[in-house]
Amino acid sequence: MSEENDSLIEKNAKEYDAHAQSWQVSMSTNMGHKYLEKPAMENELPVTFEGKAVLCIGVGSGDELQDILRRHPAHVTGIDISNELLNIAKSRFPDVEVKKMDMSAMDFPDATFDYVYSSLTFHYAPDWDVLCSEIYRVLKKGGKLLFSTHHPDYWSRKTPTGKSYTNDRRVTLTEHAAILPGDVKIIYYNHTDTDSINEALSHAGFNIEKSFVPFVVEVDANTLPVQDKEGYAKLKTKNTESPLFYLIKATK
Ligand SMILES: C[S@@+](CC[C@H](N)C(=O)[O-])C[C@H]1O[C@@H](n2cnc3c(N)ncnc32)[C@H](O)[C@@H]1O
Repeated sequence: MSEENDSLIEKNAKEYDAHAQSWQVSMSTNMGHKYLEKPAMENELPVTFEGKAVLCIGVGSGDELQDILRRHPAHVTGIDISNELLNIAKSRFPDVEVKKMDMSAMDFPDATFDYVYSSLTFHYAPDWDVLCSEIYRVLKKGGKLLFSTHHPDYWSRKTPTGKSYTNDRRVTLTEHAAILPGDVKIIYYNHTDTDSINEALSHAGFNIEKSFVPFVVEVDANTLPVQDKEGYAKLKTKNTESPLFYLIKATK
């Protein structure tokens, strides 16, 4: 990775570190997490992780760990670039091993994990060829990858910084800036479309089992908590107009 990418990682890490508490608080009531992304991801998880070593990339404050731990894995490792978020994840889920690490240059030996899970993190990578081959490397043969990421259509409307990154295969990702809940100012990269995301995985050697745009879970309006009613309706409209996220399940 170039020096420019290193400083970008540091920038994002600094933001998440500085706003770790407010990020966690805002995520606990975030409509997109609660009624869209997390249920869609959980729906794709296997019934059990018994005997399996699971890696959670971009674990953040650990909101997905409950869904993973409920399936009784042998071991869970969470990596992230933000020490402050890792500290929160560790305090909530002491059994999970946490490590500060860049997902595109991991310290793990080859074929360490049976399953790689990642919620809303891959779009921080400027070069998905590097990222996908790194994940392919740390997975065992037959191992599975499940991840969610920004949908390029929706997220390309956020502020373009005017910069882009072109890799060795001449794939170009554009750089954008956005402010996330909790006032986290992030820089992320955008593929041109979902085909280009699929292509990066296939190029690394993955077989794509499934790729799709998740829908907001159907909840009877009468059973929704009062404080969620307005946000739930808004999320549904927003996600129907232009899907917010994109999910992929793949096998090594
Ligand atoms: C949108 S948050 C998602 C956190 C958590 N997965 C969730 O869904 O609540 C993105 C996370 O990716 C982490 N991250 C960003 N760049 C990363 C990188 N290069 N390697 C590992 N983690 C990274 C951030 O620190 C942050 O915790």
